[in-house]
Amino acid sequence: MGSEKIVITSALPYANGEIHLGHVVSTYLPADIYARFCRMKGYDVVFTCATDDYGTPILIRAEQEGKTPREYVEYWNKRDLEDFTKLGITFDIFYKTSSEENLKLTQYFFLRLYEKGYIYSAEVEQPYCKNDKKFLPDRYVVGRCPYCGAENQYSDGCEVCGRTFAAGEIKEPKCILCGTPPTTKRSVHYFFRLSQFSERLKAWLEGNTNLQTEVKNYVLRWIETGLKDWDITRDISWGVPIPLKEAEGKVLYGWFDNHLCYISTTIKYLEEKGIDGKKFWNSAKILHFIGKDIVYHHYLFLPAMRMGLDEEYALPYAIPTRGHLLLQGQKFSKSRGWYVSLREFLEYFPADYLRYYLASITPYSQADVNFDWREFAAKINNELVANIGNFVYRVLSFIYSRFEATVPQPKEPDELDTELIDRIKSTTVNVGSHIEKNELDRGLKSIVELSAFCNQYFQRKEPWKQSEKAANCLYYSVNATRSLAILLHPYIPYSTEELWRQLSLGGKLDLQSWDSAKELLIKGNHKISKPRVLFRKIAEEELEPWLERLKK
Ligand code: 2FM
Ligand code: ZN
Repeated sequence: MGSEKIVITSALPYANGEIHLGHVVSTYLPADIYARFCRMKGYDVVFTCATDDYGTPILIRAEQEGKTPREYVEYWNKRDLEDFTKLGITFDIFYKTSSEENLKLTQYFFLRLYEKGYIYSAEVEQPYCKNDKKFLPDRYVVGRCPYCGAENQYSDGCEVCGRTFAAGEIKEPKCILCGTPPTTKRSVHYFFRLSQFSERLKAWLEGNTNLQTEVKNYVLRWIETGLKDWDITRDISWGVPIPLKEAEGKVLYGWFDNHLCYISTTIKYLEEKGIDGKKFWNSAKILHFIGKDIVYHHYLFLPAMRMGLDEEYALPYAIPTRGHLLLQGQKFSKSRGWYVSLREFLEYFPADYLRYYLASITPYSQADVNFDWREFAAKINNELVANIGNFVYRVLSFIYSRFEATVPQPKEPDELDTELIDRIKSTTVNVGSHIEKNELDRGLKSIVELSAFCNQYFQRKEPWKQSEKAANCLYYSVNATRSLAILLHPYIPYSTEELWRQLSLGGKLDLQSWDSAKELLIKGNHKISKPRVLFRKIAEEELEPWLERLKK
């Protein structure tokens, strides 16, 4: 039997703007922690992501910037990957929905669903600009919000009051390109019979115990109130062409093809390695990490489309869903400047600080998470610096300066040593089981508790008194340090790699086995390298510019 296969995907960022902390909290960081953990467990992991390249907002922005949509999305694809890499996100592949592979798979899905009668066509009225001779889907129309009166809102919803509205509801509609009020024109559109999948979706949701109950319950309520068929057509040029002669000039809606990119991209990655991608997909545990704003698409459209092909491509094992990020208690808003991009954050603070803080405050639920600058500094200062950093530096510098960098040979463990050994073992098991259940914050909390115990252990052993106990204290403490490096690695990969170098253990930390954290693998006489402080305190003044910015 081969090792367990795992496919992990992170929701695909639209290729039209900077990655911000909100994206990181719900989607990319949890998926990366999980992926790193699975690799250390020895599972066969593929961690997939891509940019979501289609859709009217992207086409409009490209037109405004005088670029082709392809040039435009290439720019963001590259930039996003740079940001993710800097944060330590370890995608095995970062590709794009506008790839040849995804086009093929999407058209294949369309044709199969069409043949089986799950897609039908109907004539509908669409906004149209006579001046530009163009249909005006979604964001091509702006106007006044019918609810709060805000000007310059898109035809599908208001960014000021947050209401969404149906086509035709917006007041004083205008074409975004020329300002002319749109007329309407008839167009043939294709619809996916989502309504026909109600029973199967219900059975799948009820039977899958790996889906979060709270999400499942509200998705089940949507099904009960009746699912509507879904218009999957756009009369624009940027998208996957509908593969029917009579549909020339029409493309598929972005939400038809983007989640198929999870499949096409994973398979591309595997096939390039000479592995049968489809077989892998169908025998893997598949986890799609998302934010709560795209539940509808992932719990209904995505499974229904796969069901429509009789699960030729397997359904997800889980869809870990998390809430939005607030900044100092308020919703992120780029236009109001209530916003922190990942790129600017990482210019000032190490990636591990962000990873640590966000992982520690993000539960496995829909609850919103609040980024608070003062809490951020307090967490770093009290937990990373004063607890974890303090312990490991104390141990290593003690060995380095008092034992000529050589780990002493231990004698029989006493009661306190035994307690430490037991805690190292039980924490490894606990943290592993929390991460398997996606309770990443709880996993981290257990590690912090272990580290706090390690500090007490060191303090109680008083190795500076040069008594008999010193050798055991340093021997067990340095082994605890090794275990902490392994357990913390999925959360704070950069600092733990550095710690691994200081321990002089050879090899790369990410290639170590998770379960080996239970063992005492550093032996007496092992030589360590010169230690260096891993974390620095954040001073109050460093927060001021960030807080000041929010006052304007
Ligand atoms: O909401 C979004 O940002 C989308 N680009 C997410 C797509 S996820 C997937 F299904 F492809
Ligand atoms: Zn126009």
